[in-house]
Amino acid sequence: MEKTGKSGGAAYGDRVVGNLGLGAGSGGVTAGKREFRQHCAVCHGLGGTGDSVMVNLNLLTVKPTDLTQLSKRNKGTFPLWHVYRIIDGREPVKGHGTADMPIWGNTFREEEGTGLTAETRASGRILQLVHYLQSIQEQ
Ligand code: HEC
Repeated sequence: MEKTGKSGGAAYGDRVVGNLGLGAGSGGVTAGKREFRQHCAVCHGLGGTGDSVMVNLNLLTVKPTDLTQLSKRNKGTFPLWHVYRIIDGREPVKGHGTADMPIWGNTFREEEGTGLTAETRASGRILQLVHYLQSIQEQ
């Protein structure tokens, strides 16, 4: 009986940490992972390498970038703000962005509704995705 109580407490703790978001380190990664599975995996694959439903069905004109290689392709440094701007998509990045890669800045902004904080929440969601992507980089 006592044991049940203890594990219940631990599970609650995990949930609280998961909800803290960005500042909590792994909490931000967890939220980003959830967001990634929901919005990105269909094209980029669950692991981010591009092995996805859309690719396998040949539905994309351009092959999605292997998102585990972003650091490697940038001389070992994760291009944080570059990735942020690509995901946001509202400000075009030279040489990037095709009709196949959606403009998430608009989608998230619309989903967050109106008011001053909507933009902040949309940015937060993009940042969580960026942190998740940073966590899956191959060295
Ligand atoms: C409808 C398919 C599709 C979805 C959904 C999608 N992407 Fe993409 N993405 C692409 C394609 C295709 C490319 C490569 C061509 C390009 O640069 O636009 C790409 C490129 C990228 C890049 C480019 C990196 C670089 O510098 O080359 C990043 C980062 C990225 N996607 C992140 C995401 C994230 C995060 C999500 C989810 C919020 C997402 N994508 C959802 C199709 C998609």
